[in-house]
Amino acid sequence: MSASLHRAERKEICEILITGLARQEYRGYDSAGFGIDGDKTGDVIFYKEVGKVGGLRNRVAESSADLTKSFVSQVSIAHTRWATHGPPSIVNCHPLRSDLKSDFILVHNGIVTNAAALRLVLQNRGYKFESETDTEAVAILTKYVYDSQPDKRITFTELVKTVVKELEGSFAFVFKSKHYPNELVTARRGSPLLIGVKTEKKLKVDFVDVEFAGQESEKTLENLAPTSPGGLLAPPNAGPKILRTQSRAFMSDDGLPQPIEFFVASDAAAIVEHTKRVLYLEDDDIAHIADGELHIHRLRRDKDGTNTPAIRSIETLEIEIAEIMKGKFDHFMQKEIYEQPESVVNTMRGRVNFDSNQITLGGLRQYLPIMRRGRRIVFSACGTSYHSCVATRAIFEELTEIPVSVELASDFLDRKTPIFRDDVCVFLSQSGETADTILSMRYCLERGALCVGVVNTVGSTISRETHCGVHINAGPEVGVASTKAYTSQYIALLMMALQLSEDRISFTERRNQIIAGLHALPGQIKTVLAADPTLKELADGVLVNSRSLLLMGRGYQYATCLEGALKIKEISYMHSEGILAGELKHGPLALIDENMPVIIVMTRDSLYPKVQSAFSQITARKAQPIVICNEGDDGIPQGVKTIRVPQTVDCLQGLLNIIPLQLLSYHLAINKGFDVDFPRNLAKSVTTE
Ligand code: F6R
Repeated sequence: MSASLHRAERKEICEILITGLARQEYRGYDSAGFGIDGDKTGDVIFYKEVGKVGGLRNRVAESSADLTKSFVSQVSIAHTRWATHGPPSIVNCHPLRSDLKSDFILVHNGIVTNAAALRLVLQNRGYKFESETDTEAVAILTKYVYDSQPDKRITFTELVKTVVKELEGSFAFVFKSKHYPNELVTARRGSPLLIGVKTEKKLKVDFVDVEFAGQESEKTLENLAPTSPGGLLAPPNAGPKILRTQSRAFMSDDGLPQPIEFFVASDAAAIVEHTKRVLYLEDDDIAHIADGELHIHRLRRDKDGTNTPAIRSIETLEIEIAEIMKGKFDHFMQKEIYEQPESVVNTMRGRVNFDSNQITLGGLRQYLPIMRRGRRIVFSACGTSYHSCVATRAIFEELTEIPVSVELASDFLDRKTPIFRDDVCVFLSQSGETADTILSMRYCLERGALCVGVVNTVGSTISRETHCGVHINAGPEVGVASTKAYTSQYIALLMMALQLSEDRISFTERRNQIIAGLHALPGQIKTVLAADPTLKELADGVLVNSRSLLLMGRGYQYATCLEGALKIKEISYMHSEGILAGELKHGPLALIDENMPVIIVMTRDSLYPKVQSAFSQITARKAQPIVICNEGDDGIPQGVKTIRVPQTVDCLQGLLNIIPLQLLSYHLAINKGFDVDFPRNLAKSVTTE
């Protein structure tokens, strides 16, 4: 992240960086650090701390550096880490430097998969490494390429292009260098990156051109680095051409140069309090910021000989700062659970007409005929997003009469699943940046399938690269454990199935029943939330010392069990398993005795008698299950602990049933003293494979 400011004190710059890090801390929180300009041109002052951003803030407060020094123009970079190479430690914390003098420093998201090979080559050339990270190899490679220039006249952009061409894997980088003071270069491939633009004046141009004005001679490492005849790693003549590019810089409407600040971030949440005007970088974009100008270059021409797309327009963010604050709640997760009566309305707003019983998903309209002709629908997602697919698969198949397969994105890729041009592939992702899901999307795009995105984050990779899609409009989700995104994704998929089936007269009654159920939903969610004290009691009472918890259900409620178990394990670190009640007798029954805590989901639908039978099988083995059942259900034996929820249409019941489990997981974690918003070892957005 960077800020290029006009007359700002160092302490103000530190504050911007630390607050920006805190706002996107959910992406990783093993350690945090930043580098800012020192007293002499080119010097860098580092602040680093293991653990959360709060610790970094304390470190800065205790520092002896002169925080009153002010700058007219400066470049600073900061990072929160989710460890992939090397454990969380000060030395592995970003920014990483190329050498003790910090000729080049950089921050990196993603994984450079050929870092080990690069490290070996650089070590053989005498370069010393101090960390275990893949990022340091890139910092040192940058220095190596720079040092190999006899006249050192390479531009910062050309230098970064040369380095990035040698890298494999995924990345978003921000580079800073003492050789290029007040300049900053960013590059992305596979990991998100956006640039915020802040100025007091109105911008004359609302976009940045990315033009190709011809091709330059090839400059790969072998001619940049005369000491390595075969290039550093690449065979001679390998690698793409470096392309000359031009881009339009910003001007104010009066045509005069203007004070301008640029903010680079992975996530809009980090910068929204400074500016709402952002542009999203595409893969293989390299952006150079200096002297109040932003220039975007392409690393390589696309396969079809063009660049994608030639213009990066400046968009206006719609999120408000209040949406990414906790407000009156203790934790983001708690706030997001409690937001669900509104977030589900936001998902349906302008799309469900409760008077005419019609659904309009504008983003899909033009693609509906192709979707209806599809020979199958493939859902691909990870984690909670995957569970929302499991939850809606049956209603999708019922209403569309098209077979639906539900795929965990990583497994889908591992299997190299056959995909055809008449497949409709739907990619679910809260962040729109999950690496496995993105890769599965690209796999399907390459095979000519229609690709549909269902995402929360506007401007994310999945939302940009799919042919069409639906934004779930749940608002920013900050808690690492996904809650409101689940219910909104569930509704988005339901709406999609309803819209696809609108040409089927025979389904009118069923559709109307579901739409009426959607209408009542926000009020019913409020009723479930009112039972929060009961859930707290369970977490503090019968479940307080449990080491394991089984959740059972079938039909629509299988997804509820999977999702409930995921919530419990990820924030309370308690072993928890979602079990299809129909599978009980094929193995899991062996786990059941008087000591095994069980929750069984037994709300009323056509499978109720079968779930009753599972209930009998476990109580016969002395289990004392807690039952999630409907209000007024008198079929539950006396003395059994129940969690009561309102009844709704069968395919919507999971939207209500999941809420007690979200609350239960929250209270279990609080009870154990865990930090629910920052569960150990996890990150909100998993941008690595
Ligand atoms: C669980 C959770 C994760 C995500 C998964 C996919 O609470 O948050 O399982 O659901 O990492 O993330 P998205 O939906 O952003 O693709």
